[in-house]
Amino acid sequence: MHPLRSTATAALLLCGPASALDYQKDILPILKERCWNCHSQEKEVKGGLALDDLEEMKSQIGEISLIRPGDPEKSDFLARLKLDDKEDDFMPKNGKALRPSEISKIGQWIKDGAILDATNPTEAELARIEDIKLKNARAGGEEYFSWTSAEGKAIEARFAGLQGDAVKIVMRNRREFVVPLSKLSPESAALAKKLGGE
Ligand code: HEC
Repeated sequence: MHPLRSTATAALLLCGPASALDYQKDILPILKERCWNCHSQEKEVKGGLALDDLEEMKSQIGEISLIRPGDPEKSDFLARLKLDDKEDDFMPKNGKALRPSEISKIGQWIKDGAILDATNPTEAELARIEDIKLKNARAGGEEYFSWTSAEGKAIEARFAGLQGDAVKIVMRNRREFVVPLSKLSPESAALAKKLGGE
């Protein structure tokens, strides 16, 4: 069977945000319990941070913002939660530190791309996820991408190298395919070249 003839629809969602942690489902419940009195429109907004204002939260997420998608280590948001509770910047202010499992979940959410609504990601969020995956794949991580044929059929596979004018890809079930770039959509052909460092 031609590898790209299989019927994976909406593959971008399959290997993108569907597996990513979601702000509203996974993160907000933690924050609701611990930060609400000082960081919600519902109660009070201190430090200009309203965790229940999704539009406003968008501006807190970015390369030089409180929350840096793909980069939990550089995110002040997370750093404050990890401080010693005697430090001025420690959050929750005057409260008890979050549980390690909660902190690591928030870290994972940021690592996944800090998606606000994984069921309905924005274009910018989808682009962000691709960027993070590209970076991780180049660093040697096992990242799965959606590959689309010239006819629009898609499968999910990881990149295993360029071979001349073809790309070798490996599916989760370890089946390998070598697909000529000319048989791929322009986007997927470009992705192969990017991953191959061309
Ligand atoms: C008792 C009130 C209170 C609670 C509870 C609290 N905060 Fe804060 N937070 C503040 C105040 C006041 C500021 C502004 C002063 C400062 O930056 O330290 C602030 C600032 C922040 C900032 C920096 C905002 C910026 O733009 O620089 C972050 C991030 C933050 N809080 C996250 C949290 C999180 C996450 C929680 C829950 C785990 C939390 N806070 C709980 C009072 C609180």
